[in-house]
Order: sequence, then structure tokens, then C-alpha cells
Amino acid sequence: MTRTGKAPNILIVDDEAVHMRALCDILRHHEYTTTGLVSGEAALKLLQAEQFDLLLSDLMMPGIDGIALVQAASKIDSNLACIIMTGEGSITSAVQAMKVGAHDYIVKPFKVSVILPVLARALETRRLRMENIVLEQRQLAHAAELKQLNGELELAKKEAERANHEKSNFLSHMSHELRTPLNAILGFAQILQSGSAPTTSEEKKKFAKNIEDAGKHLLTLINEVLDLAQIESGTISVSLEPVSLAAVLEECRTMIAPIAQKYGISMFYPEYMDVCVFSDETRLKQVLINLLSNAIKYNHKNGTVTLDCQLTDVGRIRVFVIDTGIGLSSEQLKLIFQPFNRLGREKSKEEGTGIGLALTKKIVETIRAEIGVVSRLNIGSTFWIELPVHPVVFQ
Ligand SMILES: Nc1ncnc2c1ncn2[C@@H]1O[C@H](COP(=O)(O)OP(=O)(O)OP(=O)(O)O)[C@@H](O)[C@H]1O
Ligand SMILES: [Mg+2]
Repeated sequence: MTRTGKAPNILIVDDEAVHMRALCDILRHHEYTTTGLVSGEAALKLLQAEQFDLLLSDLMMPGIDGIALVQAASKIDSNLACIIMTGEGSITSAVQAMKVGAHDYIVKPFKVSVILPVLARALETRRLRMENIVLEQRQLAHAAELKQLNGELELAKKEAERANHEKSNFLSHMSHELRTPLNAILGFAQILQSGSAPTTSEEKKKFAKNIEDAGKHLLTLINEVLDLAQIESGTISVSLEPVSLAAVLEECRTMIAPIAQKYGISMFYPEYMDVCVFSDETRLKQVLINLLSNAIKYNHKNGTVTLDCQLTDVGRIRVFVIDTGIGLSSEQLKLIFQPFNRLGREKSKEEGTGIGLALTKKIVETIRAEIGVVSRLNIGSTFWIELPVHPVVFQ
């Protein structure tokens, strides 16, 4: 029996029809399924159409002989077990048949007791070979799976390392930023304890103002860090709803006007599209104010800032904040959203903590929007956010 429980299917080919039929009968009695043919040509035709477990072929036949048949049959089914039957005088040819793929040979005339173990051995070899193929295939699939898993693991490891590095960077920047105003406050406290404390009321006021400024700065920083932590931990609450973009832009326009005036920057607001976006109004304003104040802060004297909108073809709208300012190099652009990184502008006259854009990016991600930037040094920058359009029309 084969592994599937079916009787092994044997194709017997012998040009001596009587011999072939007798063999078919005998083997059928030993629970083999047999098919008998008298020519190699007919056998090949049948092998193309039907699957057999074993081919038992005579060596000397007119037309396609046993050797040619074994050779051609192995090409059709490489797992087919083949046994050659040969007369006493042609053992050399039988050996040749084994070289081209036959498993064994038997010398005619033979007894049933001789052929049965030969058949069993050939079928067992076939079974093992096929099992081996399946195992090899499984092994290959397993190796491929392992390779893929290793690749994923490596990626996850790299990502964890990157995140870890970013966190350390963030912490070192943050502690530095927090320490600066705190040291200022401690410094003022030490002065008060020493003999050089301010004496006139004017001096005292100025002194107190310095402490207050440092304290306020510290408070702003802490609030921003808390904001960032809240967003990162996913505990920030946003309410996404239909929002009139024109109304938001108008509010930003009013809020930003005094800052633009202070810096001498001309603001341009091309006709707003009355589009409704799906967003959180407060957070959207916060994002736009951040971008607009940067565009004003990092601008040239008499520079301009333009706020523009453009519908994209996938039901989204882009809001652009375009400045004619100092711009950013490609190296700076890579680090633009890193918290506490002022990109070398720590000592510039522009105040800032370098957290605005990091916060902006986190907010943008939370409100299911996108952010991007293109910039050229000394020519200017364009920051954009892309929001989903909501199909509600405002009156
Ligand atoms: N429009 C811009 N043009 C040129 N440089 C910019 C622009 N916007 C941001 N930058 C650079 O990116 C840095 C990070 O900006 P970000 O808004 O995060 O921080 P900041 O403006 O320094 O401080 P704050 O946290 O108060 O906003 C800035 O310090 C500045 O160097
Ligand atoms: Mg900023």
C-alpha cells in the first residue's frame, strides 16, 4: 500500500503480451493496481495523461526500448519508480538503464517471490524521495520565513535604537533648556542673599522682573513639554468635526497681525476657499499660528509671508505658509521637527525654545493631517499642512 492508503499503481510494459498479462494478473493478486501495455510509445502516451507509482518495463522492445522509455518517463515524472526486466544476456544494458534513472532490474524469467521485494524496495525508495522533497520544500519555506522574521527583527531593533537615541537627545536638550531659566532664578536668589542685593526701588523692580521672566519662561517650557508628552502618550483630547477653514484662517490673520507688524513683515492672504475641513479647530489654529509665527520670525527685513490654499485631487486641501526668509539647508531640514533643536539659531536674536515644530508635527499627526516643508537657504521656506475636506458647505 502507498502512504495515501491506495494500492500502488503499476504500469507494466512488455512487447510479449502473454508475459505482460500474466504479470498484471499476478501483481493484482498482491494488491497492486496494474495497467499493461505492449509498446514504449503507448506507455509514454499514457504516462502523459495518468500518474503511476511505478513503471515495470521490458528492456528489449521494438521502437522505444526500455532504456529510452525510462529516460523519457523520468522526464515526465521525476519521482516515478522504474524497474527494468531483462533477459540473462542483456544485464549490461540493464545497468545502463539504471544509469539513466531506473531504480533496479530483474532478470527474466523470475519468480513472484523475487519480484515482490524488488517492487516494494523501489516503491519505498520513491516514497522516501517524495517525502524528502516535501521536507526540503518545508525547510526552504521555513528558511525564507526565518529570513523575513530576522529582517523584521533587525528593522524593529534599528527603530527601537533610533527612538531610544531620539529620546536621549530629547532628554538632554530638555534638561539643558529647563536648567537655563532655573539657574537664572537660583542666581538671582543667591544675589539676594549676598550683600549685592538691589537697593533702589527701580533696581528691585527690574530684579523682580528678571525673576518673573525666567519663571514664566520655565513655566512655558514645562507646559510645552507636558503638551508634547500628552500627545505622545495619546492622552490629548482632540475633537474632529467639520470646521470652516475660512473662519480659522481669518482668526489666525487677526492673531498674527500685531506680530507681523512688529517685525515689519507684509502678510498676504489670497482669497480663501470656503472649504469645510474635518479637524479640531483649536489644534488647527495652534498649528497655523506656530507656522505663521516662524515664517515671520525667521524672515528677512521687509520680507513677506503668504498663506495660501490648494485643493488636492483626493478630497484633501493643502494650506501653505510661504515665507521669503532665511530658509533652511538640506541638513537643517532633516532635523526640523526634532524637539529643542533650534538648528544653530540658539544665539540669534529670535527667541524660541525649538519645540514649536515638534509640537506642531505631533498635533498634525493627532488630527489626521500631514505636514511637509520645502526650503532654500536665503530664498525662503514653504511649510504646508494637508487636511481632509469635509463635504459640508458653510453659509
Ligand atoms: N520658516 C522658517 N524659516 C527658517 N527657519 C525656520 C523656520 N521655521 C523654523 N525654523 C528653524 O527651525 C527651528 C525650530 O523651529 P521651532 O518652531 O520648533 O522652534 P523655535 O521657533 O526656535 O522656538 P519655539 O519653540 O518658541 O517655536 C527654529 O529655531 C529655526 O531655526
Ligand atoms: Mg517656532
